[in-house]
Amino acid sequence: MRTPFIAGNWKMNLNHNVAIKFIEDISYKFENKNNIKIAVCPSFTSLRSVILVLEDESAKNANIKIKVGAQNMYFEESGAYTGEVSPEMLKTLGVEYVIIGHSERRELFGEIDESVNKKLKAAFNHDLKPILCVGETLKVREEGNAIDYILMQIRKDLKDISGIEISGLTIAYEPIWAIGTGKNATPQDANEMCKAIRGEISKLYSAEIAENLIIQYGGSVKSSNAKELMAMPDIDGALVGGASIKADDFLAIINY
Ligand code: PGA
Repeated sequence: MRTPFIAGNWKMNLNHNVAIKFIEDISYKFENKNNIKIAVCPSFTSLRSVILVLEDESAKNANIKIKVGAQNMYFEESGAYTGEVSPEMLKTLGVEYVIIGHSERRELFGEIDESVNKKLKAAFNHDLKPILCVGETLKVREEGNAIDYILMQIRKDLKDISGIEISGLTIAYEPIWAIGTGKNATPQDANEMCKAIRGEISKLYSAEIAENLIIQYGGSVKSSNAKELMAMPDIDGALVGGASIKADDFLAIINY
């Protein structure tokens, strides 16, 4: 039985002052009617503040179980890598999750499958739980190659990573054409892809590992479409961008 997992990707939004107010607001209004796993992924500059607020709020109300993730990291341990953040730096802050290979990193910042693979290995080495993002462009989908493309990404990104390691992995299927566009994949199309990903994981690892793997859908998830997406058998959660920085919308998605 897979526990659904909803994560908010705040992207480059909410400076740390705003982030503190925002996570306090979420905590005051927090209800988790579906008893699912929840994480928020602030920018690096807000990580520590958000973690401290959540520690405080969950000490007052034990029902508040919100984990914190980073949006990226580098794969090296330390050294002359100006502007980068290491897995150990995140881990010591109290970060639990890390988004790896988001399409915005791939499209705007030159992230490639080889670096995604190294980052996944580094995350596992430091006991961080990666959320691996994969997704196709509209062109790839219209040419009918979406499934092949995504499964190739999965094989490259998970190269030489063991079944034991990937027990901490979440995969987020995020079609690029659906991110921030208001256009979401139909629940059937999203489920078809998540099912294909599960099938590939079964081939690469085992049926049991595939059965336990959490696969999220991401791309214009809102309170109005969360329920039907989450009802699909192979969709186990959502990676939410725009709607995750509006408290009421994010809470409505959690309580889909
Ligand atoms: P969106 O972003 O919900 O704003 O489409 C999703 C994501 O990029 O993770």
